[in-house]
Amino acid sequence: MSKIIISYSEPQLAKVALASTKHIDLPLVEFDPNSKNSTHEADYSLHFSAKGLSFVSHNRNHGAICCDFVSGSHRHRRNFGGGNGQMIAKAVGISGKFIPTVTDLTAGLGSDGFVLASLGCQVQLIERNPIVYLLLKDGLKRAQVAGHDDLKLRDIINRMELCEMQSYNYLDSLSKDNLPDIIYMDPMFPIRKKSAQVKKEMQALHQVVGGDEDAAELLEKALNRAKYRVVIKRPMHSDYLGMLKPSYSLEGKSTRYDIFAKQKIPK
Ligand SMILES: C[S@@+](CC[C@H](N)C(=O)[O-])C[C@H]1O[C@@H](n2cnc3c(N)ncnc32)[C@H](O)[C@@H]1O
Repeated sequence: MSKIIISYSEPQLAKVALASTKHIDLPLVEFDPNSKNSTHEADYSLHFSAKGLSFVSHNRNHGAICCDFVSGSHRHRRNFGGGNGQMIAKAVGISGKFIPTVTDLTAGLGSDGFVLASLGCQVQLIERNPIVYLLLKDGLKRAQVAGHDDLKLRDIINRMELCEMQSYNYLDSLSKDNLPDIIYMDPMFPIRKKSAQVKKEMQALHQVVGGDEDAAELLEKALNRAKYRVVIKRPMHSDYLGMLKPSYSLEGKSTRYDIFAKQKIPK
């Protein structure tokens, strides 16, 4: 298992770092993993800096992981991603006439949630891992600030609501007359040592959250809690989660969406 510390590069960030991570049982250190000459025996830092929060590999074998909804790939996909023609849009049943509410039980760094919110869905994001939760919360906060000058971005971020909790408990808290239209899940897939194509960032995230081994139980519970569908994102050639056969699947190059239909989406 990798060693992780919480670090901050400027003394004035110590208070913020302490306040946001006091429930996380990791050492808090003044240390800048991005400085050239810095060394630390730990493998990763959850790092507070003036630019925001990031997860940094000390041996620099991949770039820092942070949530950036403002620029880069998220911005590009928002503008040129293919709208309702995207597979994820079809999987959750978005059409010109119907835009579902979506509860994402496995929020992670919020990429899928952001795509769905960009397409107009109201998205409830649930994340149980405190490090991932903080990274996502920070990304949403920075996007909210950027939204002052970008009204479309502001509207998207306003459609995303994040909650730090165990999704089982969230599902238990739902009343029958207030179920989400769609429940979405993208649990971490066990990483095989040989799979060189798995991105280094994904491997790092795997070190933090583990393999989400309980995902099949979550799916079983979710099946009674969605109004129209439960949608599971899976690697293309993987088994069905928990060996539960979906109503049907949508297949892409590397990703498959397994869809458990409860009732017809309104047309
Ligand atoms: C593969 S990542 C999801 C990536 C996400 N779809 C994205 O686009 O960024 C899976 C995430 O689900 C979270 N997770 C798994 N099971 C959960 C549960 N029962 N409750 C809350 N979060 C859970 C993990 O902590 C992890 O951060």
